[in-house]
Amino acid sequence: MSGGAKLKVRVAAVTPVNELITRFRFERLDGAPMPAFSGGAHTVVDMNDHGTRRLNPYSLMSDPADRSGYEISVRRDDAGRGGSLYLHRHVKPGMEMEISYPINLFPLDSRARKHLMISGGIGITPFLAQIAQLSAHGGRFELHYSARSRALGAYMDRLTAAHPAQVHCTFDDEKQVIDLKRVLSMQPLGTHLYVCGPKGMITWVLTTAAAMGWPAHALHHEEFLAPGTGLPFTVDLAASGKTITVGTAQSLLEAMEAAGVDAPYLCRGGACGQCETNVLACDGTILHRDHWLTAEDRAAGHKIMPCVSRFEGKTLVIDR
Ligand code: FES
Repeated sequence: MSGGAKLKVRVAAVTPVNELITRFRFERLDGAPMPAFSGGAHTVVDMNDHGTRRLNPYSLMSDPADRSGYEISVRRDDAGRGGSLYLHRHVKPGMEMEISYPINLFPLDSRARKHLMISGGIGITPFLAQIAQLSAHGGRFELHYSARSRALGAYMDRLTAAHPAQVHCTFDDEKQVIDLKRVLSMQPLGTHLYVCGPKGMITWVLTTAAAMGWPAHALHHEEFLAPGTGLPFTVDLAASGKTITVGTAQSLLEAMEAAGVDAPYLCRGGACGQCETNVLACDGTILHRDHWLTAEDRAAGHKIMPCVSRFEGKTLVIDR
């Protein structure tokens, strides 16, 4: 089934963390334990935003050993398409919702002798669960966490109190920057590097590590792209025999779902590859916004990732 099985949950708590971030706790309606997950997993929250269905992925930040509920933290995006605003403004304790079973596209690598984590802003959330998981078993880790200011450094107090030797914080408004080259040069052999945060930070960390000789298998990152907006476009769905129009603030995946077409997905953010779809005819330009397809795939123009990519032109026919 597209997106996997769903869990019926109740919103158990809504807790403001700072001026931009709010934490949500979900517990199962049937009172059973939540399905097990490992640090780095995410869930897709299914929202009915006044008639518009929104399906947004959020990292699970709670302790994987705690099966009584799941917690996510959501940064309000005033310029976004509405998912975070809906959660911040309309989701209250006691509400019933559906979320997906957990999916982990950013797991800890069990081959690592040490886990080096680099986080920016709300990118801290998967690391909270991973650190809880590692702490339970004496796993070795080091976290470098950058935030715009002390006030926006969500969970920094908790992390530095629990792990004063392993957690290092920097603040943009105090002109502090992670001393990346030094940090990368001081790691023992067998260390794996994980980065989650803004696109610029991910690129900086990965390219610096690669230039310093870190092996590709030891580099891990997570970045879910928001679908973004664009000009409306029309798509022919060959297998379904339908023609759909994708709206300005809608993704191709969302437009297919709204038309009753079953389309696969896991991350809904251009990262997992699950939604990859063959292009049967194209008279125009595919606006590739994923980071799944290779440069060769893009040049060939035979594939599209409907969760984030768009189209400009006359005709697009896809195999769905
Ligand atoms: S759903 Fe993951 S890349 Fe589209």
